[in-house]
Amino acid sequence: MGRRGARPPRVPAPRRDRGIAVKIGYLQLRPQFGRTKENVRAAKSMLVGVTDATVVLPELFNTGYVFRNMEEVRDLAETAAGVTVTELRKVAVAQRLNLVFGFLEAKNRKYYNSSALITAKGATHVYQKAHLFDREKLFFQPGNGAFKAYPVEGAKIGMMICFDWFFPEVTRSLALDGAQVVCQPANLVLPWCQDAMRTRSIENRVFSVTANRIGMEKRGNISLTFTGKSQVVSPKGDVLASASERSETLKVVEIDVAEALDKHVTPNNDLFRDRRPALYKALLRKAV
Ligand code: ACM
Repeated sequence: MGRRGARPPRVPAPRRDRGIAVKIGYLQLRPQFGRTKENVRAAKSMLVGVTDATVVLPELFNTGYVFRNMEEVRDLAETAAGVTVTELRKVAVAQRLNLVFGFLEAKNRKYYNSSALITAKGATHVYQKAHLFDREKLFFQPGNGAFKAYPVEGAKIGMMICFDWFFPEVTRSLALDGAQVVCQPANLVLPWCQDAMRTRSIENRVFSVTANRIGMEKRGNISLTFTGKSQVVSPKGDVLASASERSETLKVVEIDVAEALDKHVTPNNDLFRDRRPALYKALLRKAV
């Protein structure tokens, strides 16, 4: 223990001699159910002229969302070597883009609600959604992979998908693995995510990009309206870009990604060093 009244030691801030400028953004789309070719073509045409950026597309942007049965899932699923990933890899490499997008993945006769990160150098990383929402549980397996940050030119990128936001452990795990930009393909139907992602960004000091879809999908007796309002948020919770609820739109903003390296909240608080994992044991217990 220090002397009574002694000031706590200051935690040195990381050196930031220069910023690291990168461009990040979202492509908000209105996919048509079951029309993979058209959906991929529409995304590619909206990306024409965009270069040297990280762009996030919605969850399941290539297939649509409201599946009625397992047969539809099987018909529309692709492997990570399928046409969607292959086509978007061509765009990523030609336009020096890191693309993050949701797709319906078939792997070892199982089906996942997945997202891919295709880097500007052509590398592919896949994340399988861990927290399935509502009827997704009828069709998809939950992913069991670790939440990982992947290095791309100038930044480290983490992926989560839509409803994963409801579990703050996801963004925290990505941030602890070094993610500076958390990319969230989404098909949001509940109203809270955009506000919550500001908190996720603040409490982890990371940039976040939520790419939501718009439009309504009515299939049989199920009808869902997607909420749009894709956004880019800074590590201090500022909304750097925000889309409407109604239009397909692409927005890219320039950020200093080094802002996500500084985890200080006050000169005496570093939000990673101040964590108390020994007190968080309940997090590892199963719910009763
Ligand atoms: C969702 O996870 N698509 C709401």
